Amino acid sequence: MKRSTLELLCCPNCQAALSLRDECGDETVDEGDLLCLHCERSFLIRNGITHFISLQELEGLNRRFARFYNWFSHFGAIFGKMLFLPMGGERKARKVILDRLDLNGGRLLEVSIGAGDNLPYLFESPTMGEVYGLDISAAQLARCRNFVAKRGWSVDLFLGMAEVLPFKSESFDSVLHIGGINFFSEKKKAINEMIRVARPGSKIVIADESERLAKLIARIGGFSRSRQGRKVDMSVPVHLVPDTMEEIRVDGIWKMHGQYHGYCLEFRKPA
Ligand SMILES: C[S@@+](CC[C@H](N)C(=O)[O-])C[C@H]1O[C@@H](n2cnc3c(N)ncnc32)[C@H](O)[C@@H]1O
Repeated sequence: MKRSTLELLCCPNCQAALSLRDECGDETVDEGDLLCLHCERSFLIRNGITHFISLQELEGLNRRFARFYNWFSHFGAIFGKMLFLPMGGERKARKVILDRLDLNGGRLLEVSIGAGDNLPYLFESPTMGEVYGLDISAAQLARCRNFVAKRGWSVDLFLGMAEVLPFKSESFDSVLHIGGINFFSEKKKAINEMIRVARPGSKIVIADESERLAKLIARIGGFSRSRQGRKVDMSVPVHLVPDTMEEIRVDGIWKMHGQYHGYCLEFRKPA
């Protein structure tokens, strides 16, 4: 984590400021602790990744998905390529979403960054600024960290939940999310958090599988219902976007055999 990133962080519990304890004093902090000055919780920084959650404290679908993605991260890269092959390939499938971002050299937050498969396309853009990534799976983030280190990109990574972002309000110039929200424990909370951390005037882009495909995945994976027996809503979450947002738009994406297999929801936080 860049030392300067501390200015963007806050305690996910109480949103108070955090203080850094480390021994090196370098520009980049690989090992250390962040201490909340208000509720006194502390968060580890290990191998450059700041840990705001642990698997044990997760509940519901989030716990199941953190576990699932810790396992899945071994196959994710190849799976993604194969999945997108019949839809014109991975580049096309990702660019149709990424091209909707307003990259203006500012800070981009990717919520659920996974292994970093969007990064090569993001860094192709001459207007790409700083990238920050958060994910609930430690294994996905470890893969992302290795990928980023190999390419020499500067991307700060955080282990955390989309529903409780550890960032101060209005910290980012764009917010991106691809591929996780259909199965988040609390989608409304996650969307509100993406809006909270976005600067006024910035674009928020959210994409996932279509409702039909998500229902099929849920049936196969056995997570159509939460542990409490509630049916998981897999409709496009446009109804969860507050009316105060501007330029709200939903498009079908990932077309195959005449049907869209994904959606892209985009909107702008009022300036
Ligand atoms: C299908 S992968 C997509 C990864 C990446 N966005 C991409 O486009 O390749 C979904 C990701 O969502 C993450 N995820 C699932 N639930 C999450 C939550 N509640 N908060 C943050 N990340 C979550 C998973 O760990 C996984 O890395």
